[in-house]
Amino acid sequence: MSELKEKVILITGAAMGLGLATAIEAAASGAKLALVDYNAEGLEKAKADILSQYPNSDVLTIIADTSNEDDVKNYVKETINKFGAIDGFYNNAGIEGKQAPLVDYDLDVFKKVIDINLLGVYYGIKHVLPHMQSKNYGRIVNVASVGGIRGVMNQTPYVASKHAVVGITKNTALEYARYGINTNAIAPGAILTPMVAGAFKQVNPEDPAAAEAEYAQANPTKRLGKPEEVAKVVCFLLSEACSYVNGQVIAIDGGQSNSYGNV
Ligand SMILES: NC(=O)c1ccc[n+]([C@@H]2O[C@H](COP(=O)([O-])OP(=O)(O)OC[C@H]3O[C@@H](n4cnc5c(N)ncnc54)[C@H](O)[C@@H]3O)[C@@H](O)[C@H]2O)c1
Repeated sequence: MSELKEKVILITGAAMGLGLATAIEAAASGAKLALVDYNAEGLEKAKADILSQYPNSDVLTIIADTSNEDDVKNYVKETINKFGAIDGFYNNAGIEGKQAPLVDYDLDVFKKVIDINLLGVYYGIKHVLPHMQSKNYGRIVNVASVGGIRGVMNQTPYVASKHAVVGITKNTALEYARYGINTNAIAPGAILTPMVAGAFKQVNPEDPAAAEAEYAQANPTKRLGKPEEVAKVVCFLLSEACSYVNGQVIAIDGGQSNSYGNV
């Protein structure tokens, strides 16, 4: 059981999907929450959802685009102003982009994926680190993907950005562990969130359910993952208990990334 009592946990991309699931799990564990998203309406719904389940939670919401460095500076400042510290940072906001072969990939979409998935993650770490350093304590969890350790057809910028997140994770882990700051990444497989539901629509617009069934069949567990199953691992990585795990990329994919071919 992860223990985040009184810890200040900052989560980007918190309005839905993996970010929201982790916010709920962290609230259950007693954390104080700073929730960031550029979807203002979704963020308010997320806060209401958390408070309906855990009425005593302390929840700050901040509207920000994580690919804009000034917005990032501001979400860090607002969190510090309210809570005085950032103990754990779940650097989660990301987008998939479109699905297309490398040569046909739309350059504007390519750049947007890199801006959010790579630079957004970098800005977050850059502005959170000094506060963690000042307390000689911190936990950072970056969100890579199975696409950060393997190729994925028709998703070149996504895969490139997630491999880069793995690289940033390893370097942050090397450079800042001496200040009590552990940095790890997760590599989820197909977890049923709004992002993945959208991907199934792109893969098979006529029958997204068939695309979903095909993905499930390719997994050793014969099902997709649930956001709560990711959230539990993330909350461990954000906790004090994660004291000697540093610079790792934890696959949360039902074992699928170990497979060569069909299972
Ligand atoms: N769901 C999966 O199967 C899966 C697998 C591997 C990796 N991931 C990664 O997990 C993370 C979360 O994915 P998800 O499935 O929950 O996605 P999602 O689309 O369901 O939710 C993402 C949230 O992030 C927010 N967001 C996106 N870009 C933002 C930005 N620039 N600024 C602020 N908020 C922003 C969105 O508004 C949304 O609320 C992403 O980094 C994604 O690449 C997901």
